Amino acid sequence: MTSASFLLNGVRVELEGTDPHVTLLDLVRERGLTGTKEGCAEGDCGACTVVVRETTHPVQSSALPSAYRAINGCLALAAQLPGAEVWTVEGVIDTGLGAVKAATELHPVQEAIATTGGSQCGFCTPGFVMTMVASYYSPMVTDEQSGDPGGEVLAGNLCRCTGYRALRAVATLTSGAGSVDGSVGTDRFARRLHDPVVGAVTAGLGSAVVAYRPSTLAESIARLASEPGLRVIAGATDVGVEITRGFRRYEGILSLDAIRDPIFSNCSRAEWSITIGAGVTMTALEDFLRDGGAPLARHMLPWFASRQIRNRATVGGNLMTASPIGDMSPVWLAHGAVALIGGRSGIREVRVSDFFTGYRQTAVGADELLVALRVDDDVVPRGGRRVEWVRKVARRNRVDISTVATAFMVLLDGNERVVSARLAYGGVAATPLRAIGAEDALIGAVWRNGDGHVADARARLGSAFAPLSDHRGSASYRQRLITGLFDACLAETATGSDR
Ligand SMILES: Cc1cc2nc3c(=O)[nH]c(=O)nc-3n(C[C@H](O)[C@H](O)[C@H](O)COP(=O)(O)OP(=O)(O)OC[C@H]3O[C@@H](n4cnc5c(N)ncnc54)[C@H](O)[C@@H]3O)c2cc1C
Ligand code: FES
Ligand code: FES
Repeated sequence: MTSASFLLNGVRVELEGTDPHVTLLDLVRERGLTGTKEGCAEGDCGACTVVVRETTHPVQSSALPSAYRAINGCLALAAQLPGAEVWTVEGVIDTGLGAVKAATELHPVQEAIATTGGSQCGFCTPGFVMTMVASYYSPMVTDEQSGDPGGEVLAGNLCRCTGYRALRAVATLTSGAGSVDGSVGTDRFARRLHDPVVGAVTAGLGSAVVAYRPSTLAESIARLASEPGLRVIAGATDVGVEITRGFRRYEGILSLDAIRDPIFSNCSRAEWSITIGAGVTMTALEDFLRDGGAPLARHMLPWFASRQIRNRATVGGNLMTASPIGDMSPVWLAHGAVALIGGRSGIREVRVSDFFTGYRQTAVGADELLVALRVDDDVVPRGGRRVEWVRKVARRNRVDISTVATAFMVLLDGNERVVSARLAYGGVAATPLRAIGAEDALIGAVWRNGDGHVADARARLGSAFAPLSDHRGSASYRQRLITGLFDACLAETATGSDR
């Protein structure tokens, strides 16, 4: 494979000269592979879902060198494609490009959808098939909070004909069926999992709009300093929407997804802390945290977007959007995390509590990159315990932006007295924030309703923020959520009869 090309259903596609803004969805459909559909062009509906085979991320637990991941074709940009291996619905039932075989040779997932009546008008069906094909080859990530594993797999796919019951049943039954204890089955997709993948290569696309894809942080930072007009992308789940829905075009693109410096692309554990690379995807983070660390992140991640988005969205991209309603920002605030910011003179540290400098603004300079986050352990006081609590309130259960999101980390001693408290909120101000006054009032409080300090903290929460009204919720609704969520946390986590 030449550097600026990718594999589409096993056939090489040249990218040289391609505008880096072009989406994978468009590239696929231009080649007559129209099974992949455009529904929303912003990552919401899943009709554009395709599968990529990727090198297993170093932080992930799989023993295999590669894994299939469902992604949204509408948000993956040509700049990110060199070296990729992409499969569309045509490739799943076919050994060549586009020629359909007999129905008896359907993939087991397709067979199951067909026999359970899981497809009606069929517009969304290819997207559902591809999401389930990816999960067929990897054990299902169950979401114990929802008790709805099929729903978890399919959260990123919409079907307006409401075939959900059958589709969820199929997702539950087929998820992981092609993979047993890390050793996979024998079909042609399963066999491929044993082969290494070319993986992201550092090819830039030489078109009228230049795209760079360096393999090191140093090169990326140098490029940023020498060409300040470049638009940085990581997973492009945010920037992709600017391009597809906002019709934005940039002078040039600097893609970070081929960087291999471990501090950026890996997670690591030290005795009292973990470090999470800014280039780590949410899926890889979920996998890493199964062995412990950053419990608030572990609780929030299942509610973050969909599997397709989590397969691409990075920890760094999320923080850098500085969205007041980003879900992970309250999590990192409540963990007291530290951002590692890289520039030409090295790496500097900024607490996440000082990271957001204004509406959608951060402490990262124009010639700097966010490199990693460090999360120090909140050590439980002797005989005490840790209250770890997150809640995301949105209009839809899944794949929706928060109205208000909270993350609380409270350390209690053996007498249930508060030793330290971090109460972080998103959706209540121009930036994600901690309620410092209420946190201070809690110190020494007995963690239960009726304690005077707790009542004081609650009163302070009531005036801590001045939320705005928007289409996600009125200011007064948000105001009620600020104290209501604190009450809910207390009710769920306080012990004894005074809950
Ligand atoms: C359908 C859908 C659902 C979503 N749901 C959620 C949700 O539930 N919760 C939530 O919080 N967000 C959600 N998002 C928003 C988005 O997916 C996340 O914010 C995501 O983590 C962004 O990461 P990314 O790698 O894709 O960023 P990109 O889109 O690649 O980049 C985002 C911004 O960060 C900058 N950037 C990226 N990496 C770096 C770096 N290392 N250093 C400096 N700058 C950098 C880019 O220049 C850009 O300004 C959703 C988006 C979509 C499309
Ligand atoms: S077209 Fe809707 S998610 Fe891509
Ligand atoms: S089968 Fe018609 S939209 Fe899903």
